[in-house]
Amino acid sequence: MLRNTSTGYGTIAIAFHWTMAVLIIGMLALGIYMHELPPTEPATFQLYQLHKSTGFVVLALAAFRLVWRLINPAPQLPSGMHPLEKLAAHLGHVGLYLLIFAIPVTGWFMVSASPWGIPTILFNVLPVPHLPIPEALGSKDQAEAFFKLLHEYGAFLLIGLIVVHIAAALKHHFIARDETLKRMVSTASAKSNS
Ligand code: HEM
Ligand code: HEM
Repeated sequence: MLRNTSTGYGTIAIAFHWTMAVLIIGMLALGIYMHELPPTEPATFQLYQLHKSTGFVVLALAAFRLVWRLINPAPQLPSGMHPLEKLAAHLGHVGLYLLIFAIPVTGWFMVSASPWGIPTILFNVLPVPHLPIPEALGSKDQAEAFFKLLHEYGAFLLIGLIVVHIAAALKHHFIARDETLKRMVSTASAKSNS
């Protein structure tokens, strides 16, 4: 059961969801933690490199996941949901998708704009080129500060959305007692359609 059906998620969507959930929550925690460390320590540098490398893994997974999502629509939401609740669920998912692209991309722009010019070498193996920075953003310092702000605000917005997202999943499971959480855990709901 690789593909989604109208009643449940398939293995690929479930694998994308949980792999990325673990990576993204880990990246949020790592970002906040490393930001507090003394910037000149070698260990801090290593953590920044790990954060950058893992961020590119998230970006690549987000691209593959979006393609999979576009050719393989999500199951229908439970019929008992109010139309406004359905709209909120869709907007929430669109917001999550947007942020899992926007946050790594703003990180990429931030390190590209940095006057330090530190190269990004994924897991010390694969070099990633710096992105061109629009001149309208001013000096390198100003451009770096701009993307840093977008990266931070994006990350804090994502934390807010994830909290609401998890609360909604728990409400479906424990209060509405429907299949919503179960179908993101197992393909049994998808199979019941076939
Ligand atoms: C899923 C992807 C990512 C997430 C969730 C994420 C999240 C975060 C968070 C929460 C912070 C701390 C912000 C703060 O406390 O002010 C941070 C900082 C940072 N991130 Fe990311 N990040 C991601 C991807 C990337 C990528 C791809 C790069 C670069 C290629 C990057 C570069 C940085 C840098 C350089 C900082 C430190 C900024 C500073 O010194 O204030 N991040 N990130
Ligand atoms: C413990 C944490 C989490 C739980 C319990 C959870 C639960 C769920 C559930 C039950 C669904 C299915 C909703 C439906 O059928 O309409 C879902 C979908 C989704 N979740 Fe999560 N989630 C978690 C973490 C995350 C994280 C960290 C992200 C990304 C930042 C995320 C992004 C998404 C997206 C984009 C969808 C829509 C999938 C699609 O239809 O293509 N989730 N989640």
